[in-house]
Amino acid sequence: MIRFDFNTYVDRFIDKEKYNLLMSRKEEIIEKLDHSNMTGWREKISPELVNDINDTAQYIRDNYDCLVVIGIGGSFLGSYAFDNMFRKYFNDEKFEVIYAGTTLSSKYLDELIGYLNNKNFCLNVISKSGTTMETTITYNILKKQLKRKYPDDYSKRIIATTDKEKGLLREEVNKEGYKSFIIPNNIGGRYSFITPAHLLPLALNYNLNEIIDGYYHGKRLIDNAYQYAVTRKLLFDENRHVENFCVNEQNFCYFTEWLKQLFGETEGKERVGIFPTSCIHTRDLHSLGQFIQDGNKIVFETYIKVKKSNNFIEYNGRELHEISNIVESSVIRAHYKGDVPCIEINIEELNPYNIANIIYFFQLSAAFSAYLFGVEPFDQPGVEIYKQEVRESLN
Ligand code: PA5
Repeated sequence: MIRFDFNTYVDRFIDKEKYNLLMSRKEEIIEKLDHSNMTGWREKISPELVNDINDTAQYIRDNYDCLVVIGIGGSFLGSYAFDNMFRKYFNDEKFEVIYAGTTLSSKYLDELIGYLNNKNFCLNVISKSGTTMETTITYNILKKQLKRKYPDDYSKRIIATTDKEKGLLREEVNKEGYKSFIIPNNIGGRYSFITPAHLLPLALNYNLNEIIDGYYHGKRLIDNAYQYAVTRKLLFDENRHVENFCVNEQNFCYFTEWLKQLFGETEGKERVGIFPTSCIHTRDLHSLGQFIQDGNKIVFETYIKVKKSNNFIEYNGRELHEISNIVESSVIRAHYKGDVPCIEINIEELNPYNIANIIYFFQLSAAFSAYLFGVEPFDQPGVEIYKQEVRESLN
Protein backbone atom coordinates (compact mmCIF):
# COMPACT_ATOMS: atom_id res chain seq x y z
CA MET A 1 0.00 0.00 0.00
CA ILE A 2 1.13 3.53 -0.77
CA ARG A 3 -0.18 6.69 0.94
CA PHE A 4 0.20 10.15 -0.56
CA ASP A 5 0.07 13.42 1.31
CA PHE A 6 -0.07 16.41 -1.02
CA ASN A 7 -1.69 18.64 1.59
CA THR A 8 -0.32 18.74 5.15
CA TYR A 9 2.98 20.44 4.34
CA VAL A 10 1.98 21.98 1.02
CA ASP A 11 -1.44 23.62 1.43
CA ARG A 12 -0.37 27.08 2.46
CA PHE A 13 1.80 27.45 -0.65
CA ILE A 14 -1.02 26.72 -3.05
CA ASP A 15 -3.74 28.97 -4.36
CA LYS A 16 -7.05 27.09 -3.99
CA GLU A 17 -8.65 28.65 -7.04
CA LYS A 18 -5.72 27.75 -9.31
CA TYR A 19 -5.72 24.27 -7.80
CA ASN A 20 -9.40 23.75 -8.61
CA LEU A 21 -8.86 25.07 -12.11
CA LEU A 22 -6.03 22.61 -12.86
CA MET A 23 -7.90 19.75 -11.17
CA SER A 24 -10.85 20.46 -13.45
CA ARG A 25 -8.59 19.77 -16.49
CA LYS A 26 -8.09 16.15 -15.48
CA GLU A 27 -10.30 14.58 -18.18
CA GLU A 28 -8.72 16.75 -20.88
CA ILE A 29 -5.17 15.77 -19.81
CA ILE A 30 -6.02 12.06 -19.53
CA GLU A 31 -7.52 12.26 -23.00
CA LYS A 32 -4.31 13.76 -24.35
CA LEU A 33 -2.40 10.81 -22.94
CA ASP A 34 -4.96 8.37 -24.34
CA HIS A 35 -4.41 9.87 -27.79
CA SER A 36 -0.62 9.68 -27.66
CA ASN A 37 0.99 6.97 -29.78
CA MET A 38 3.81 6.54 -27.22
CA THR A 39 1.89 4.80 -24.46
CA GLY A 40 2.80 1.18 -25.10
CA TRP A 41 3.96 1.16 -21.46
CA ARG A 42 0.28 1.13 -20.46
CA GLU A 43 -0.46 -1.99 -22.50
CA LYS A 44 -0.26 -5.52 -21.09
CA ILE A 45 2.97 -7.38 -21.74
CA SER A 46 2.28 -10.74 -23.40
CA PRO A 47 2.70 -13.95 -21.35
CA GLU A 48 4.75 -15.44 -24.23
CA LEU A 49 7.24 -12.60 -23.95
CA VAL A 50 7.45 -13.01 -20.17
CA ASN A 51 8.14 -16.74 -20.67
CA ASP A 52 10.86 -15.94 -23.21
CA ILE A 53 12.49 -13.50 -20.77
CA ASN A 54 12.31 -16.03 -17.91
CA ASP A 55 13.74 -18.82 -20.10
CA THR A 56 16.60 -16.58 -21.21
CA ALA A 57 17.33 -15.62 -17.60
CA GLN A 58 17.36 -19.32 -16.68
CA TYR A 59 19.79 -20.02 -19.55
CA ILE A 60 22.09 -17.24 -18.30
CA ARG A 61 21.96 -18.53 -14.72
CA ASP A 62 22.67 -22.10 -15.84
CA ASN A 63 25.60 -21.26 -18.10
CA TYR A 64 27.36 -18.13 -16.87
CA ASP A 65 28.24 -16.51 -13.57
CA CYS A 66 27.85 -12.85 -14.50
CA LEU A 67 25.77 -10.68 -16.84
CA VAL A 68 27.11 -7.35 -18.03
CA VAL A 69 24.28 -4.99 -18.97
CA ILE A 70 25.39 -2.28 -21.39
CA GLY A 71 23.08 0.71 -21.75
CA ILE A 72 22.58 4.29 -20.73
CA GLY A 73 19.69 6.50 -19.59
CA GLY A 74 16.29 4.91 -20.03
CA SER A 75 17.86 1.74 -21.36
CA PHE A 76 19.32 0.75 -18.00
CA LEU A 77 18.29 3.02 -15.12
CA GLY A 78 14.99 1.33 -14.28
CA SER A 79 16.42 -2.12 -13.61
CA TYR A 80 19.57 -0.70 -12.05
CA ALA A 81 17.55 1.41 -9.61
CA PHE A 82 15.21 -1.46 -8.83
CA ASP A 83 18.01 -4.00 -8.35
CA ASN A 84 19.96 -1.66 -6.08
CA MET A 85 17.00 -1.28 -3.75
CA PHE A 86 16.90 -5.00 -3.00
CA ARG A 87 20.56 -5.98 -2.92
CA LYS A 88 22.31 -6.47 0.38
CA TYR A 89 24.94 -3.89 1.29
CA PHE A 90 27.35 -6.70 2.22
CA ASN A 91 27.70 -10.34 1.20
CA ASP A 92 25.03 -10.07 -1.43
CA GLU A 93 24.28 -13.51 -2.85
CA LYS A 94 22.14 -12.59 -5.84
CA PHE A 95 23.27 -13.44 -9.38
CA GLU A 96 25.93 -10.95 -10.40
CA VAL A 97 24.78 -8.19 -12.78
CA ILE A 98 27.23 -5.45 -13.73
CA TYR A 99 25.84 -2.29 -15.30
CA ALA A 100 28.29 -0.70 -17.74
CA GLY A 101 27.85 1.76 -20.58
CA THR A 102 27.35 4.98 -18.68
CA THR A 103 30.88 6.25 -18.79
CA LEU A 104 33.85 6.79 -21.10
CA SER A 105 36.24 6.38 -18.18
CA SER A 106 39.33 4.42 -19.25
CA LYS A 107 39.97 3.58 -15.62
CA TYR A 108 36.52 2.03 -15.21
CA LEU A 109 36.64 0.03 -18.46
CA ASP A 110 40.20 -1.14 -17.97
CA GLU A 111 39.39 -2.37 -14.47
CA LEU A 112 36.15 -3.97 -15.68
CA ILE A 113 38.04 -5.87 -18.39
CA GLY A 114 40.53 -7.05 -15.76
CA TYR A 115 37.68 -8.20 -13.53
CA LEU A 116 35.89 -10.00 -16.37
CA ASN A 117 39.07 -11.93 -17.25
CA ASN A 118 38.27 -14.17 -14.30
CA LYS A 119 34.55 -14.41 -14.93
CA ASN A 120 32.41 -16.62 -17.12
CA PHE A 121 30.37 -13.73 -18.45
CA CYS A 122 27.80 -12.75 -21.08
CA LEU A 123 26.54 -9.41 -22.40
CA ASN A 124 23.12 -7.80 -22.68
CA VAL A 125 23.50 -4.73 -24.88
CA ILE A 126 20.44 -2.45 -24.70
CA SER A 127 19.83 0.47 -27.03
CA LYS A 128 16.55 1.41 -28.67
CA SER A 129 18.22 3.50 -31.36
CA GLY A 130 21.16 1.13 -31.63
CA THR A 131 23.47 4.07 -32.18
CA THR A 132 24.08 5.64 -28.75
CA MET A 133 27.75 6.54 -28.46
CA GLU A 134 28.52 5.43 -24.88
CA THR A 135 26.69 2.12 -25.33
CA THR A 136 28.35 1.44 -28.69
CA ILE A 137 31.86 2.14 -27.42
CA THR A 138 31.46 0.01 -24.28
CA TYR A 139 29.80 -2.78 -26.24
CA ASN A 140 32.52 -2.90 -28.90
CA ILE A 141 35.27 -2.96 -26.28
CA LEU A 142 33.65 -5.75 -24.25
CA LYS A 143 32.66 -7.70 -27.37
CA LYS A 144 36.33 -7.72 -28.39
CA GLN A 145 37.22 -9.23 -25.03
CA LEU A 146 34.38 -11.75 -25.33
CA LYS A 147 35.53 -12.84 -28.79
CA ARG A 148 39.10 -13.21 -27.58
CA LYS A 149 38.10 -15.24 -24.54
CA TYR A 150 35.37 -17.36 -26.13
CA PRO A 151 36.12 -17.52 -29.88
CA ASP A 152 33.84 -20.54 -30.38
CA ASP A 153 30.66 -19.51 -28.66
CA TYR A 154 30.88 -15.73 -28.21
CA SER A 155 27.71 -15.11 -30.24
CA LYS A 156 25.68 -17.20 -27.79
CA ARG A 157 26.91 -14.88 -25.05
CA ILE A 158 25.44 -11.74 -26.59
CA ILE A 159 21.83 -10.76 -26.08
CA ALA A 160 20.70 -7.56 -27.78
CA THR A 161 17.65 -5.54 -26.78
CA THR A 162 16.80 -2.96 -29.44
CA ASP A 163 14.33 -1.74 -32.04
CA LYS A 164 12.45 -4.33 -34.11
CA GLU A 165 13.90 -3.17 -37.44
CA LYS A 166 15.97 -0.02 -37.23
CA GLY A 167 19.54 0.72 -36.12
CA LEU A 168 23.03 -0.74 -36.35
CA LEU A 169 22.45 -3.10 -33.45
CA ARG A 170 19.46 -4.71 -35.16
CA GLU A 171 21.55 -5.04 -38.34
CA GLU A 172 24.25 -6.82 -36.34
CA VAL A 173 21.69 -9.13 -34.72
CA ASN A 174 20.34 -10.07 -38.14
CA LYS A 175 23.85 -10.77 -39.40
CA GLU A 176 25.23 -12.65 -36.37
CA GLY A 177 22.06 -14.37 -35.17
CA TYR A 178 22.29 -13.21 -31.54
CA LYS A 179 19.39 -13.80 -29.20
CA SER A 180 17.45 -10.56 -29.17
CA PHE A 181 14.52 -8.73 -27.63
CA ILE A 182 12.50 -5.79 -28.92
CA ILE A 183 11.88 -2.38 -27.40
CA PRO A 184 8.54 -1.56 -29.03
CA ASN A 185 8.16 1.50 -31.22
CA ASN A 186 5.51 2.99 -28.96
CA ILE A 187 7.67 2.96 -25.79
CA GLY A 188 10.45 5.49 -25.18
CA GLY A 189 13.62 4.70 -23.18
CA ARG A 190 12.61 6.13 -19.80
CA TYR A 191 9.17 4.49 -20.06
CA SER A 192 10.59 1.08 -20.94
CA PHE A 193 10.57 -0.49 -17.46
CA ILE A 194 7.90 -2.99 -18.55
CA THR A 195 9.93 -4.19 -21.57
CA PRO A 196 12.78 -6.74 -21.86
CA ALA A 197 15.21 -3.81 -21.52
CA HIS A 198 14.58 -3.93 -17.77
CA LEU A 199 12.77 -7.20 -17.22
CA LEU A 200 15.59 -9.42 -18.50
CA PRO A 201 18.24 -8.15 -16.04
CA LEU A 202 15.61 -8.27 -13.27
CA ALA A 203 14.44 -11.80 -14.14
CA LEU A 204 17.82 -13.12 -13.00
CA ASN A 205 17.00 -12.37 -9.37
CA TYR A 206 13.32 -11.44 -9.03
CA ASN A 207 9.93 -12.95 -9.65
CA LEU A 208 8.64 -11.15 -12.74
CA ASN A 209 4.99 -11.91 -11.93
CA GLU A 210 5.21 -9.88 -8.73
CA ILE A 211 6.86 -6.98 -10.56
CA ILE A 212 4.38 -7.07 -13.45
CA ASP A 213 1.35 -7.26 -11.11
CA GLY A 214 2.60 -4.34 -9.03
CA TYR A 215 3.36 -2.30 -12.14
CA TYR A 216 -0.09 -2.64 -13.72
CA HIS A 217 -1.84 -2.07 -10.40
CA GLY A 218 -0.21 1.37 -10.58
CA LYS A 219 -3.09 2.18 -12.96
CA ARG A 220 -5.29 2.49 -9.89
CA LEU A 221 -3.17 5.43 -8.77
CA ILE A 222 -4.24 7.60 -11.70
CA ASP A 223 -6.02 10.19 -9.50
CA ASN A 224 -3.00 10.43 -7.16
CA ALA A 225 -0.70 10.77 -10.16
CA TYR A 226 -2.75 13.63 -11.54
CA GLN A 227 -2.94 15.34 -8.14
CA TYR A 228 0.84 15.04 -7.77
CA ALA A 229 1.35 16.58 -11.22
CA VAL A 230 -1.02 19.46 -10.39
CA THR A 231 0.66 20.10 -7.03
CA ARG A 232 4.11 20.23 -8.65
CA LYS A 233 2.89 22.56 -11.39
CA LEU A 234 1.33 24.97 -8.88
CA LEU A 235 4.50 24.97 -6.79
CA PHE A 236 6.46 25.73 -9.96
CA ASP A 237 4.10 28.64 -10.63
CA GLU A 238 5.02 29.93 -7.14
CA ASN A 239 8.68 29.99 -8.29
CA ARG A 240 9.60 26.61 -6.77
CA HIS A 241 11.62 25.55 -9.79
CA VAL A 242 13.56 22.73 -8.09
CA GLU A 243 12.13 19.44 -6.79
CA ASN A 244 14.30 17.68 -4.25
CA PHE A 245 13.53 13.95 -3.99
CA CYS A 246 14.44 12.83 -0.46
CA VAL A 247 15.04 9.27 0.70
CA ASN A 248 16.36 7.92 3.98
CA GLU A 249 17.79 4.64 2.67
CA GLN A 250 21.13 4.77 0.85
CA ASN A 251 20.28 2.07 -1.65
CA PHE A 252 17.40 4.18 -2.96
CA CYS A 253 19.94 6.55 -4.49
CA TYR A 254 19.60 5.10 -8.00
CA PHE A 255 15.86 5.26 -7.69
CA THR A 256 16.21 9.01 -7.29
CA GLU A 257 18.52 8.99 -10.33
CA TRP A 258 15.74 7.24 -12.24
CA LEU A 259 13.28 9.91 -11.04
CA LYS A 260 15.63 12.67 -12.13
CA GLN A 261 15.85 11.16 -15.59
CA LEU A 262 12.12 10.53 -15.85
CA PHE A 263 11.05 14.04 -14.88
CA GLY A 264 14.04 15.88 -16.34
CA GLU A 265 13.74 14.36 -19.81
CA THR A 266 9.95 14.31 -19.83
CA GLU A 267 9.11 17.89 -18.85
CA GLY A 268 12.35 19.88 -19.22
CA LYS A 269 11.64 21.37 -22.65
CA GLU A 270 10.92 24.65 -24.39
CA ARG A 271 12.41 26.56 -21.45
CA VAL A 272 9.97 25.17 -18.85
CA GLY A 273 10.00 22.33 -16.34
CA ILE A 274 11.06 21.60 -12.80
CA PHE A 275 14.73 20.80 -12.19
CA PRO A 276 14.85 17.47 -10.32
CA THR A 277 17.54 16.84 -7.73
CA SER A 278 17.88 14.50 -4.76
CA CYS A 279 19.15 14.07 -1.22
CA ILE A 280 19.92 11.03 0.84
CA HIS A 281 19.10 11.51 4.50
CA THR A 282 20.46 11.96 6.96
CA ARG A 283 23.79 12.39 5.11
CA ASP A 284 22.79 15.42 3.06
CA LEU A 285 21.14 17.20 5.96
CA HIS A 286 24.70 18.08 6.87
CA SER A 287 25.35 19.69 3.50
CA LEU A 288 22.44 20.69 1.24
CA GLY A 289 20.18 20.70 4.30
CA GLN A 290 21.50 24.17 5.12
CA PHE A 291 20.46 25.54 1.71
CA ILE A 292 17.06 23.94 1.81
CA GLN A 293 16.23 25.10 5.33
CA ASP A 294 17.65 28.57 5.08
CA GLY A 295 18.68 29.46 1.54
CA ASN A 296 17.00 30.65 -1.66
CA LYS A 297 13.34 29.53 -1.68
CA ILE A 298 13.39 27.88 -5.10
CA VAL A 299 12.99 24.32 -3.77
CA PHE A 300 10.10 22.06 -2.88
CA GLU A 301 10.61 18.49 -1.65
CA THR A 302 9.12 15.08 -2.29
CA TYR A 303 9.83 12.54 0.45
CA ILE A 304 9.71 8.84 -0.32
CA LYS A 305 9.54 6.87 2.91
CA VAL A 306 9.17 3.17 3.65
CA LYS A 307 7.17 2.47 6.81
CA LYS A 308 8.37 -1.02 7.72
CA SER A 309 11.93 -2.27 7.49
CA ASN A 310 12.86 -5.88 6.76
CA ASN A 311 15.77 -5.55 9.19
CA PHE A 312 15.45 -5.16 12.93
CA ILE A 313 17.99 -3.15 14.91
CA GLU A 314 17.20 -2.20 18.49
CA TYR A 315 18.44 1.09 19.86
CA ASN A 316 17.52 2.24 23.38
CA GLY A 317 14.34 0.17 23.38
CA ARG A 318 13.20 1.38 19.95
CA GLU A 319 13.51 0.14 16.39
CA LEU A 320 16.22 2.02 14.51
CA HIS A 321 14.00 2.24 11.42
CA GLU A 322 11.27 3.85 13.53
CA ILE A 323 13.83 6.38 14.78
CA SER A 324 14.90 7.06 11.20
CA ASN A 325 11.28 7.74 10.18
CA ILE A 326 10.75 9.99 13.21
CA VAL A 327 13.86 11.92 12.17
CA GLU A 328 12.50 12.19 8.62
CA SER A 329 9.16 13.54 9.88
CA SER A 330 11.00 16.08 12.03
CA VAL A 331 13.03 17.19 8.99
CA ILE A 332 9.81 17.70 7.04
CA ARG A 333 8.38 19.88 9.84
CA ALA A 334 11.62 21.87 10.13
CA HIS A 335 11.81 22.48 6.37
CA TYR A 336 8.13 23.43 6.28
CA LYS A 337 8.77 25.95 9.06
CA GLY A 338 11.59 27.27 6.84
CA ASP A 339 9.04 27.86 4.03
CA VAL A 340 9.73 24.72 2.04
CA PRO A 341 6.67 22.81 0.75
CA CYS A 342 6.99 19.05 1.37
CA ILE A 343 5.07 16.29 -0.40
CA GLU A 344 5.04 12.84 1.25
CA ILE A 345 4.85 9.42 -0.39
CA ASN A 346 4.70 6.59 2.14
CA ILE A 347 5.28 3.03 1.03
CA GLU A 348 4.07 0.44 3.53
CA GLU A 349 6.92 -1.99 2.98
CA LEU A 350 9.83 -2.51 0.60
CA ASN A 351 8.93 -5.27 -1.84
CA PRO A 352 9.08 -5.67 -5.65
CA TYR A 353 5.31 -5.27 -5.97
CA ASN A 354 5.23 -1.87 -4.24
CA ILE A 355 8.26 -0.53 -6.08
CA ALA A 356 6.88 -1.55 -9.49
CA ASN A 357 3.60 0.06 -8.39
CA ILE A 358 5.26 3.38 -7.62
CA ILE A 359 7.23 3.24 -10.89
CA TYR A 360 3.98 3.22 -12.85
CA PHE A 361 2.65 6.05 -10.67
CA PHE A 362 5.69 8.25 -11.38
CA GLN A 363 5.63 7.48 -15.13
CA LEU A 364 1.98 8.50 -15.31
CA SER A 365 2.57 11.58 -13.25
CA ALA A 366 5.54 12.75 -15.34
CA ALA A 367 3.45 12.43 -18.51
CA PHE A 368 0.57 14.43 -16.95
CA SER A 369 3.06 16.98 -15.73
CA ALA A 370 4.50 17.52 -19.22
CA TYR A 371 1.00 18.10 -20.60
CA LEU A 372 0.31 20.61 -17.81
CA PHE A 373 3.48 22.43 -18.86
CA GLY A 374 2.31 22.30 -22.47
CA VAL A 375 5.19 20.14 -23.73
CA GLU A 376 5.40 16.72 -25.39
CA PRO A 377 6.29 14.10 -22.72
CA PHE A 378 7.78 11.39 -24.88
CA ASP A 379 10.54 13.01 -26.87
CA GLN A 380 13.95 14.37 -25.78
CA PRO A 381 15.08 16.87 -28.41
CA GLY A 382 17.69 18.33 -26.05
CA VAL A 383 19.44 14.97 -25.64
CA GLU A 384 19.36 14.46 -29.40
CA ILE A 385 21.21 17.78 -29.90
CA TYR A 386 24.13 16.59 -27.78
CA LYS A 387 24.13 13.16 -29.44
CA GLN A 388 24.29 14.82 -32.88
CA GLU A 389 27.12 17.15 -31.83
CA VAL A 390 29.11 14.14 -30.55
CA ARG A 391 28.50 12.16 -33.75
CA GLU A 392 29.82 15.06 -35.80
CA SER A 393 32.95 15.57 -33.73
CA LEU A 394 33.77 11.84 -33.59
CA ASN A 395 32.73 11.22 -37.22
O1 PA5 B 1 14.65 8.08 -22.13
C1 PA5 B 1 15.29 8.10 -23.17
O2 PA5 B 1 14.76 8.00 -24.28
C2 PA5 B 1 16.80 8.22 -23.15
O3 PA5 B 1 17.29 8.37 -21.86
C3 PA5 B 1 17.42 6.97 -23.79
O4 PA5 B 1 17.00 5.84 -23.11
C4 PA5 B 1 18.95 7.04 -23.78
O5 PA5 B 1 19.40 8.20 -24.43
C5 PA5 B 1 19.56 5.81 -24.48
O6 PA5 B 1 19.06 5.70 -25.79
P1 PA5 B 1 19.13 4.34 -26.59
O7 PA5 B 1 18.25 3.34 -25.93
O8 PA5 B 1 18.63 4.68 -27.97
O9 PA5 B 1 20.56 3.90 -26.61
